[in-house]
Amino acid sequence: MSETLLELPEEFRQRLAAVLPGDALEGCLATFASQKPTAFRANTLKAGVAEVRAELEGQGLALTPVSWYPEAFLVDQGQRRALTESAAFYDGRIYIQNLSSMLAPLVLDPQPGEAVLDLAAAPGGKTLQLAAMMANDGRLVAVEAVKGRYYRLKANLQQYGATMVEAYLMDGRAAGRRWPQVFDRVLLDAPCSSEARFSQLEPESWAHWSTRKVKESAHKQKGLLQAAVYALRPGGTLVYCTCSFSPEENEVAVHALLRKFGPALEIEPISLPLDNVRPGLTEWEGKALHPDLAHSVRILPTEVMDGFYLCKLKKSNE
Ligand SMILES: C[S@@+](CC[C@H](N)C(=O)[O-])C[C@H]1O[C@@H](n2cnc3c(N)ncnc32)[C@H](O)[C@@H]1O
Repeated sequence: MSETLLELPEEFRQRLAAVLPGDALEGCLATFASQKPTAFRANTLKAGVAEVRAELEGQGLALTPVSWYPEAFLVDQGQRRALTESAAFYDGRIYIQNLSSMLAPLVLDPQPGEAVLDLAAAPGGKTLQLAAMMANDGRLVAVEAVKGRYYRLKANLQQYGATMVEAYLMDGRAAGRRWPQVFDRVLLDAPCSSEARFSQLEPESWAHWSTRKVKESAHKQKGLLQAAVYALRPGGTLVYCTCSFSPEENEVAVHALLRKFGPALEIEPISLPLDNVRPGLTEWEGKALHPDLAHSVRILPTEVMDGFYLCKLKKSNE
């Protein structure tokens, strides 16, 4: 990895300045140049949290617990290698995952015995977390459209002991027709422009970025969002999330969904025990968006978390 800091695309910086409040912009820009500690989750399908912690600490790793999630820990970059060489990592008793990513399953809050759909699932970090939260009890369907990534998902499901998962190689936009009104909960961790993963240490991270790509992502997200709603049973819950800052992929996408489904769909508030949370936008490029989008949340990137967008929706009972 090069240690030279490269400039992010100017158009991206300008768009970010329009999205983030002034006080948040500078802090956010600083995170693109920093290396975050490594976050991981104890895989409770295979091991207890205390057991994994004791084992890793016994091997000399300094773990920092995450206050809002007892399963999660951080290690400094300098110990990342030791973590990935540990038996716990090889045996699938821990899963390395950014803290922001861990929020989506927590917000969806699946219960054992329920029917849950993960509509864009590979490599499976959130599917595994959902399976762990459901204790492998119930129905968990994981969909992935890209063949190579689907096989990676299948391998992860096996390695991490997520025996309850039915995995399908298919376009998620067909899920509504395949499983109409079936699921209690749907997670759509949408394919996106991945802007929150940009790193000034890795120019490849934004090599494919352009406003055209953002628009293409938004178009696909629209189809996936509609399929997610069709696959949801009346009264069911949908969590939509992306690792993009672009409103077109976040609030504007949900605004269009609300317009399509009208009163059949409502945004629910999300409450998180974090300081780096801001309400979703209710206006973009001079156009007013649905006021309830203020109940969706933007996770601002920090020295430990990636930026993220999360929106929780409920389908009405009728
Ligand atoms: C943000 S990633 C998902 C990450 C995953 N949820 C996790 O936590 O490990 C989005 C995924 O959607 C997949 N994808 C792209 N287009 C899709 C489509 N039309 N239907 C289903 N999945 C799709 C991508 O290949 C990618 O694996």
